[in-house]
Amino acid sequence: MSVGIDDISFYSSSLYIPLAELATRYGIDPEKYRVGLGQEEMAIPAVDEDIVTMGASAAWPVIDDDNRDSVGTLLFATETGIDQSKSAGVYVHRLLGLGSNCRVVELKQACYSATAAIQMACALVARQPEKSVLVIASDIARYGLGTPGEATQGCGAVALLVKANPRLVEVHPETGCYSEDVMDFWRPNYMDTALVDGKYSTIVYLKALRQSWKHYQQAGGKVFSDFSRFCYHLPFAKMGEKAHRKLAVTCGESMSDELFAEQTGSGLIYNRKIGNSYSASLYIGLLSMLENDSEDLSGRHIGLFSYGSGCVGEFFAVTVQPGYRAYSRRQAHVDRLESRQALSYDEYALLFEHQYPRVDGEHDFPEMTDGRFRLAGLHDHKRIYTETGAR
Ligand code: CAA
Repeated sequence: MSVGIDDISFYSSSLYIPLAELATRYGIDPEKYRVGLGQEEMAIPAVDEDIVTMGASAAWPVIDDDNRDSVGTLLFATETGIDQSKSAGVYVHRLLGLGSNCRVVELKQACYSATAAIQMACALVARQPEKSVLVIASDIARYGLGTPGEATQGCGAVALLVKANPRLVEVHPETGCYSEDVMDFWRPNYMDTALVDGKYSTIVYLKALRQSWKHYQQAGGKVFSDFSRFCYHLPFAKMGEKAHRKLAVTCGESMSDELFAEQTGSGLIYNRKIGNSYSASLYIGLLSMLENDSEDLSGRHIGLFSYGSGCVGEFFAVTVQPGYRAYSRRQAHVDRLESRQALSYDEYALLFEHQYPRVDGEHDFPEMTDGRFRLAGLHDHKRIYTETGAR
């Protein structure tokens, strides 16, 4: 029996700012963002969107009356926590109408936790193959206006259904991990923007990649040339390219520009438009590759590197299943990105500075999102989620 990812769907806000607009505002050469960071646009959440509404919207197409009752566990990965106690997943459990016997928990380790969730999901499915596990990763990346990290913000969510005999990719059991207590990026409880030592964070990312690969090799993993494609955690698309060059050098591989682009390019398409979605980013990259690669990847191996600051890294592999293209949701995803509304800098800054109430009371939020779910308000310290009726 193989275990892996049977279905994937993503959601991102309908609002974005073109990075050229940001560059013009700050008097920066737009090529710094387009070429230097590899980014074109950055998704900005509406005031009535959060990790719950995005996560539920991502998962909505994946869950239907035929599979709802077989979801035995919902694992919600995020570093944009909305409550110190209650899992964001429990709200999503209700919004999706999952069964009352489904266990729910939230996982956190910066951008890495979705990968821990996938590994746990595979173990659970191996134990109870008739059950599936719904993994949701949902995050909002915020650094602050005028900071070096500002151009690497974004938001998005991805939902992955982990099952026995999956239709999309089998997840291999061999993995390589690397953990170290470092302060490259973190967000104290009293802050709503991240603190980051930007250059240091890129160095630690690459170190974690080398060490995870080394451990993956020790664990009996595949060698570089076994892989057709590679997906990396993408805080910005150029980081994935830097990572791939580093891994190739580590493995003593030299490659043409064409081969380099072939091995990574299709995985970068969605992220260039969404920006960083932290825990969701690697899996939106995998989805981008499965939906946009010009070749049929059936039977091919893809290497995945997950990185979460602080830090934990993990390298593992998946094999694309024959016939996977028949289950693509590409059109819906492309339509979603193409129908978004561009913000001017001033509109973006206004949204960015919107503060969620920190005191008790009856707070209602303006209707802004075009997503299926919205955060309608905060009443008596409780978050009120509603359906909008949008498909
Ligand atoms: N044309 C083309 N390229 C240009 C250019 C121009 N006019 N001007 C600058 N560039 C290039 C630079 O040469 C540089 O490229 P290299 O890195 O290849 O040298 C690139 O654009 C970026 O320029 P800077 O290094 O000067 O940019 P910066 O000082 O503004 O900082 C950053 C970049 C450190 C990534 C910053 O955006 C940041 O702190 N981001 C948040 C942290 C982050 O994303 N870290 C990634 C690793 S940690 C992680 O992955 C977890 C996570 O999700 C946060």
